[in-house]
Amino acid sequence: MATTSPQLESEFNSSNIDVLISETDIQERIKALGAQLAHDYAGRNPLLIGVLKGACFFLSDLLRAIDIPLAIEFMAISSYGSATRTSGEVRILKDLDVAIENRHIIVVEDIVDTGLTLSYLLANLKSRGAATVKLVALLDKYERREREVQIDYLGFQIPDHFVVGYGLDFAERYRNLPFIGILKNPETAQLGLPISSQSETV
Ligand code: IMP
Ligand code: MG
Repeated sequence: MATTSPQLESEFNSSNIDVLISETDIQERIKALGAQLAHDYAGRNPLLIGVLKGACFFLSDLLRAIDIPLAIEFMAISSYGSATRTSGEVRILKDLDVAIENRHIIVVEDIVDTGLTLSYLLANLKSRGAATVKLVALLDKYERREREVQIDYLGFQIPDHFVVGYGLDFAERYRNLPFIGILKNPETAQLGLPISSQSETV
């Protein structure tokens, strides 16, 4: 019998991806980070700022592990470069909807790679008169750092590989993986979509 329906090919079990950090390990680490943040920010009503799009997934799990009053906001930033490299030119695409004077800010990021995006963003937020500005990052690709960035709360240090999953993308693909994996062959991961060589939302 002839069939025209497309074959279901598992994205989560792709042969192009090696699991680096399992879903269980991510969730366990987030519970610990959440408890630490609840302790450190008790009575301070912190404002968590998530950097779109990659950090949304981490932010949404993290905030449910922080058992104190808090608020959230989002920013979108574009960094110019190739699909896997940042050039350091940073532009704010979506700014905060609230003033942050005298607030305790916790920036939530998926990964610190060269540090160029975060060093720009942290300086920008500090200049707006926040009481404190701290950084929570899920991943630290420390070997690639070009600009010093203080990571106050960290999920995991990782080696210098291009990783995807749990919010991290390659040309917008793989954000939906529930784990973090190493993308073995980027050339075969493109799905026929054009990868912009000029601009990327982090
Ligand atoms: P940085 O400015 O070089 O520190 O990197 C900023 C952004 O680059 C991150 O927020 C990510 O969106 C992206 N990025 C860096 N390394 C990776 C990776 O291994 N996988 C997916 N995205 C990455
Ligand atoms: Mg990205």
